[in-house]
Amino acid sequence: MSFNWCFIGTGKIAHRVAKQIITIDGHRIVSVYNRTKEKALTFAKIYNSRVYDTALEAINDPAVDGVYIATTNETHFPFIKLCLENHKPTLCEKPLTGNAKQLQYLLELSVEKKTFLCEGMWTWFNPISHRVKEWIKQHKIGNILDVKCCFCVPIFGRKNNARLVEIDKYGGALLDLGVYCVRYVYELFGIPKSILSEGKLYRGVDFVNKAKFFYDNFTATITSSFNHFYGDYCLIKGEEGTIKVPLFHRANKAILKNKNGRTVYRNTTPKFVYQFLQVANDIKSGKKESLISLKSSLEVLQLMDEIRKQVGVVYQCDLDSP
Ligand SMILES: NC(=O)c1ccc[n+]([C@@H]2O[C@H](COP(=O)([O-])OP(=O)(O)OC[C@H]3O[C@@H](n4cnc5c(N)ncnc54)[C@H](OP(=O)(O)O)[C@@H]3O)[C@@H](O)[C@H]2O)c1
Repeated sequence: MSFNWCFIGTGKIAHRVAKQIITIDGHRIVSVYNRTKEKALTFAKIYNSRVYDTALEAINDPAVDGVYIATTNETHFPFIKLCLENHKPTLCEKPLTGNAKQLQYLLELSVEKKTFLCEGMWTWFNPISHRVKEWIKQHKIGNILDVKCCFCVPIFGRKNNARLVEIDKYGGALLDLGVYCVRYVYELFGIPKSILSEGKLYRGVDFVNKAKFFYDNFTATITSSFNHFYGDYCLIKGEEGTIKVPLFHRANKAILKNKNGRTVYRNTTPKFVYQFLQVANDIKSGKKESLISLKSSLEVLQLMDEIRKQVGVVYQCDLDSP
């Protein structure tokens, strides 16, 4: 199947994704828009794409089958809105918007315009995550006792980290890293009964974020941080065993230990490939949603809104009406 992508944004993730997309048979990046045109030109030279001066022109290139938005968080809402208003099926990087209120607006617009929209939550296009979910459903480790999900990466000293640390860019550990933890726990166990969060803020942005999700018989602890290296893993303890997923958001393996011994499930296929293949298939077959439903993205954003409320992170979108 052939599929022609339009890229909005040509930053770090756009380049990482593009390298994998062009390995998929029939997939091409035909049109590109970036705020700084020189960077779009450099990108287009590598991927043999056409550069446009505006996002509107890029998405309206007649060859485009779907749009991929890879710009900073605070720009997702206006770019998604532009795509939906122009009936362009869209995959947008995580988190889809700054808060649930913005996504509620876009969800209704997507229904009104009968146009596909999906969050680029690549972790849940990865077969490893689905295997972990199956193991839990099949009671491979019995009743759950405790869950820890950590995604902590020190970013100090990194160049060009404005998108991570500035409040105007909707920066912060929760929206950048914690979104994966919240989604992971939500996918495995659903919406918690209650949440208790604490964070350390600098200039209004959370550098450390810890949230406890309380379920009927256990607690899931979610930690995201730019400050310390606590690790990048999910550990699920049950009455009859454990499941560990190293680097859970981009995992190549999951390890199950129970009375039957140790089982390792591996998958080393480049992970963006799954996401882009699935989304392209869904768009071509006329679906309006993919594996990551808008309802699920909305529920995850509602959980993140609650965490931000408790730790005191306020973005411009919380003050504006959409
Ligand atoms: N799925 C993943 O594994 C993954 C990994 C990293 C990031 N992400 C997500 O991808 C997005 C981009 O992250 P990144 O690491 O690629 O960031 P990046 O390298 O800093 O690139 C940011 C991009 O956004 C554009 N941009 C910034 N402000 C803009 C504005 N006001 N209007 C229009 N365009 C603007 C930049 O354009 P200029 O070139 O003009 O500055 C650039 O194209 C974020 O939402 C992030 O959460 C996902």
